[in-house]
Amino acid sequence: MYKVRVSKIAVSVFLLSVIFSCSREQPGRTGEDAEQAKWVIGMSQCNLGEPWRVQMNADIEKAAGQYPELEVVFKDAQNDNLRQRSHVEEFVSSGVDLLIISPKEAAPLTPPVREAYRRGIPVIVLDRRVLGEDYTCFIGADNRKIGRAAGGWIAQRLGGRGRVVELKGLMTSTPGQDRNSGFREGIKGSGLEVIFEADMKWLEPNSRQEMESALARFDRIDLVYAHNDPGAHGAWLAAKAAAREEGIVFVGIDGLPHEGQVYVRQGILEASFEYPTGGREAVETALAVLNGHQVPKEITLASRVFTRENIDDGGEWLEQE
Ligand code: FRU
Repeated sequence: MYKVRVSKIAVSVFLLSVIFSCSREQPGRTGEDAEQAKWVIGMSQCNLGEPWRVQMNADIEKAAGQYPELEVVFKDAQNDNLRQRSHVEEFVSSGVDLLIISPKEAAPLTPPVREAYRRGIPVIVLDRRVLGEDYTCFIGADNRKIGRAAGGWIAQRLGGRGRVVELKGLMTSTPGQDRNSGFREGIKGSGLEVIFEADMKWLEPNSRQEMESALARFDRIDLVYAHNDPGAHGAWLAAKAAAREEGIVFVGIDGLPHEGQVYVRQGILEASFEYPTGGREAVETALAVLNGHQVPKEITLASRVFTRENIDDGGEWLEQE
């Protein structure tokens, strides 16, 4: 009888009935029950300020829309760890059947995720990690590999020599750490020199500001490696304002069809490495868990690089390692 998609108000009413009717120890219902079940998934998004996260939510919504037995309730923490922590706690106390979280930072979000998991709520961690192993499944692309591939691509593009600016994503989040360490591995042994590095915390305005400092300090910059496309675009804006964008190569990560890929087509970025949102995979994994199936602890998504040469052919997949 709950196999119909219901309105948001109906969801709240439904949530209340779920709290009273379902046992927390049995998140995966099977058999006859499943026919009638309506599962509520709480999705805790760390912020919706960037196109990539809007896309992640849209991917989740679209995938969940194919399963009438699922309802997803979204919360946006607006880039605030404490708010995200409260959201997780609210989901737990409202009795969601499963939690999906894309955490802002690893350390502050680890305790509430652990608490939810220990209480028997399956937790899918998406894109950015938490610390430890207290979650059901982690889904994301391999950021270290992407960083390494970017390093290799950049070393080749610059013929092994050059002055590079690295604009890093939030270094207390795991993708920032991995895109940095992978990149450093990728350029190891080359003649590339990182002359300026800064944490722009994933945000375009910060990146623009950091790039202004880099431009003021260095007469020659050959390339900017930014940990995401908003960061690369912010740096490009700063260089353009200083009329120096022509002499600099810009490389970013995310490769969204309506963001990074457009920048590549426009010639703003020379390369953008895809970072898939994992939204669809999260919903499919959630469904498997809710149906009582075992899922892997970790699901690694593949990634492509988009350049002007390959973009019309759908980019080029990064090699399996
Ligand atoms: C969006 C974002 C993406 C990046 C991801 C890393 O908030 O900064 O641009 O790839 O988060 O977690």
